[in-house]
Amino acid sequence: MSLPDRETAPCCLIVDDEAPLRAVLRRILEQQGFRCRDAASGAEAVALLEALPAALVLTDYHMPEMDGVTLLKIVRERWPETAVVMVTGVSDVDLAVQCLANGAMDYVTKPFRVDEIRGRVGQALEKRQLLLENTAYREHLEARVQQQARAYEDLFLASLQSLADALEVKDPYTWGHSVRVGQYSLAIARELGLDADRIAQLELGSRLHDIGKIGVREGVLNKEGALTPEEYRHIMEHPVIGWRLLSPLLRDAPHALAVVRSHHERVDGRGAPDGLAGDAIPLEARIAAVADSFDAMTSGRPYRAGMAVDDAMAELRRCIGTQFDAECVAAFARAMDARAFPLPDSRVRRPVARPSLVA
Ligand SMILES: [Fe+2]
Repeated sequence: MSLPDRETAPCCLIVDDEAPLRAVLRRILEQQGFRCRDAASGAEAVALLEALPAALVLTDYHMPEMDGVTLLKIVRERWPETAVVMVTGVSDVDLAVQCLANGAMDYVTKPFRVDEIRGRVGQALEKRQLLLENTAYREHLEARVQQQARAYEDLFLASLQSLADALEVKDPYTWGHSVRVGQYSLAIARELGLDADRIAQLELGSRLHDIGKIGVREGVLNKEGALTPEEYRHIMEHPVIGWRLLSPLLRDAPHALAVVRSHHERVDGRGAPDGLAGDAIPLEARIAAVADSFDAMTSGRPYRAGMAVDDAMAELRRCIGTQFDAECVAAFARAMDARAFPLPDSRVRRPVARPSLVA
């Protein structure tokens, strides 16, 4: 075995209550190129390790106050990367087995030979190095897997967003609607103190809330006049269509799914599709309902300009208790006062920033 480089040589800690034995062991290991420290007791060894961890602890078993197994247990718990080699009496086979069971890398029986000490210590350090490399490799692999999973998730969300954008491209006057509903919902959620995961799901659900309109006939979707009862029923199928479409994809995002299904519920129970009332409507859906309606009111249509912001806010307040949740409307008003999102310019008829369509 070649001698380790003095600078990078592993640091060994020798623990024995007999000074002559410590000196012998130290000389053997230093001749092998290791850097060494020594301690006369378990307590002193722990103090030395606290100051500077070691790659290897070579400890006697029979010591007053703290025996070798107790020290072994402490080292395994506090310095799991440190290899421990136990020195035991020749008749202590059971004890040696007990040491291995408690995590000792190896043991040496007294009286020992110089080459035996060198061999066992060298093997223990090599084994330790392999274990460290193994752990580092596993952690690296786990990080790579997580990175890949995040990349897939981002790609998946981008695909869903493209689907929502494709829907808006069919109707240029709603271009940007889902993005704005996402912004408004996010601002309300922050005002209400929702946690980060629910906020992220709410934003996703808001961006995708009308995706079910893909299943609505275009003639009905873009009709400029009043809808017939049949047409209204048809268009109001979009929350359930969207929910069915996204359910297999968003199994891990129930709050996002709730927004898609329940954003047309009303707090008085007269909404669709389930006729839920009050707190039975998921909070995320009550938030999205406010955001959705505000954007619908302030957006221009081909046949009318959007409503002024103050008028739209007055309408939201008027519909508290029937259509909207009071806390959600109040939170939206606070977010608006705090300029948490850009105010819509209702004098401008959309589309204002429609991208050119690629044939
Ligand atoms: Fe909708």
